Amino acid sequence: MIPISKPEIGKDEIEAVKAVLESGMLAQGALVEEFEDRFASLLGVEYAIATNSGTAALHTALASAGIKSGDEVITTAFSFFATASCVLMQGARPVFVDIDPRTYNINPEKVEREISERTKAIIPVHLYGQPCDMKELMEIAEEHQLLVIEDAAQAHGAMYRGRMVGSIGDIGVFSFYSTKNIVTGEGGMITTNDEKIAEKARMIRNHGQKERYIHECLGYNYRMTNIAAAIGLVQLQKLEEFNARRISNARYYNERLNLGSPYVAPGVRHVFHQYTIRVRAREKFLQHLDDHGIGYGIYYPMPLPRQPVFHSDTYCPEAEIASAEVVSLPVHPALSRDDIKRVVEVVNQYEG
Ligand SMILES: Cc1ncc(COP(=O)(O)O)c(C=O)c1O
Repeated sequence: MIPISKPEIGKDEIEAVKAVLESGMLAQGALVEEFEDRFASLLGVEYAIATNSGTAALHTALASAGIKSGDEVITTAFSFFATASCVLMQGARPVFVDIDPRTYNINPEKVEREISERTKAIIPVHLYGQPCDMKELMEIAEEHQLLVIEDAAQAHGAMYRGRMVGSIGDIGVFSFYSTKNIVTGEGGMITTNDEKIAEKARMIRNHGQKERYIHECLGYNYRMTNIAAAIGLVQLQKLEEFNARRISNARYYNERLNLGSPYVAPGVRHVFHQYTIRVRAREKFLQHLDDHGIGYGIYYPMPLPRQPVFHSDTYCPEAEIASAEVVSLPVHPALSRDDIKRVVEVVNQYEG
């Protein structure tokens, strides 16, 4: 079986974790701070705040930005649940916008008509590792004085017109869940140039305290452990190599797969968290992959507005079609040349 994802954990990560375990300093400490500093430098931002998941990072970002009950937040109809559940966590309402069917990212042309007096922020998601159309989105946000919180959970190292995603909007959010381009097991990061937001995020991550046992605002235990940070520090050094391998695997597929290849917008560096194609009668294709031991993923089988918890009646036709057609093939850096040759062989054998 060729798996759809596999974390690349080497001796260095194991040694780093061992050292933390032996030190006895397991919880948030100096290594977390070092991971934050390195991550901020990589992105070229002033502040990075580590958390124990991408979901915690998103929630902290929204809370730090003051998103509250009665507010509306515009986001894509096609993403992982946490992109929008965090809006609910703040008592606000997610407003869903359809995608550009080529990139699967939020369609900026459809954003403006959803803006109301209650709109406070936009959460664009750089889905599958491909940056959104940030120029358009930033212009809309500026005109209407909205915050932009980039959900870059799938896009470490992706670039839009030479700028790292997560450094373009007011706040960026990353995940280090085990399938991501770099991993810490579970983990997340908030990035920003705004000192006030950074300070608030640090408090919210730690029970709303700046000073010990003085709880100035509602906060949570969203702290990252030194164990996770130790893995993250090693992984961060390998990010470029990992992304280069993902991009090279994607190029190999692009040149050979008969079923078409993903569209990449001009001026972006797509880091192929997922390599996603469209297949019309998908069930039959998935059976074919199952029969031949090729792992795959469906990201995502249902558009967000149709998730019962949102009680939304928004209909997004492009997100509906994408949900029915997308199939992600293994593209991760742990694949051997034989693995990707095998994927090509099996996919090209398929008769739809
Ligand atoms: C687009 C997107 N946003 C948010 C998250 C949440 O991250 P985590 O799983 O680390 O909580 C994920 C990860 O699964 C994601 O893919």
